[in-house]
Amino acid sequence: MSRSEGNANGRSVTLHMVSSLDGFIAKRDNSVSWLHSTGSVYERGVSISEEETATFLKEINCYVLGSRTYEHALELGWPYGDTPVVVVTSREWPPARKSVEFYSGDLKTLVDVQLAPRYRNIWLVGGAMLCQRFLELSLVDEIMLTIAPVLLGDGLRLFGGSLTEERWNLKNVVAYKNSFVELSYSAPTA
Ligand SMILES: NC(=O)c1ccc[n+]([C@@H]2O[C@H](COP(=O)([O-])OP(=O)(O)OC[C@H]3O[C@@H](n4cnc5c(N)ncnc54)[C@H](OP(=O)(O)O)[C@@H]3O)[C@@H](O)[C@H]2O)c1
Repeated sequence: MSRSEGNANGRSVTLHMVSSLDGFIAKRDNSVSWLHSTGSVYERGVSISEEETATFLKEINCYVLGSRTYEHALELGWPYGDTPVVVVTSREWPPARKSVEFYSGDLKTLVDVQLAPRYRNIWLVGGAMLCQRFLELSLVDEIMLTIAPVLLGDGLRLFGGSLTEERWNLKNVVAYKNSFVELSYSAPTA
């Protein structure tokens, strides 16, 4: 099924990642302080309340993540609440939280057969390897990229593989008081 057919069915896959200014999504040692440290205040930026964040997150029906991101989330503290989570993996895992299911197999089948009938607003939240495969297969409808105001110099590249040239459509830009910038794009129409 093509991306546009997927949209016609009502489901939307949003790839959301936080990147450093120099294009890294994780440090080699996996530390995440760079994601939370507050830099200078950008006075013209907006800030959103916890209530607004919670309302926004309620709209997400399902998260999809690669197994390394899953492992990291278990270590750091579960950020997905009770929202359904699908972990893509070829490995066997011990029983997990009720909201978590494991998937191994074709990713188009995952989106079009397993997820689309159940969920409308699907968020793909990493890591780099899984996002790369989703993009290669044209399974992403929107990219929401948050840029952190920091150069890391080294780490795991956001998009390290071999993607083909594609021009995406800028939909929204939000600059926050904490100097993070959120860029939203929709996929090129076929
Ligand atoms: N800054 C951010 O916004 C952000 C967001 C998410 C994650 N991260 C960070 O990114 C790092 C993890 O990213 P990563 O790229 O190393 O790993 P990842 O994409 O999270 O996970 C890779 C694993 O997912 C499974 N997988 C991926 N594609 C598959 C496919 N087509 N079919 C079957 N299984 C597939 C494989 O698991 P098996 O080996 O189990 O088969 C693979 O080893 C962590 O440090 C995490 O904290 C950062």
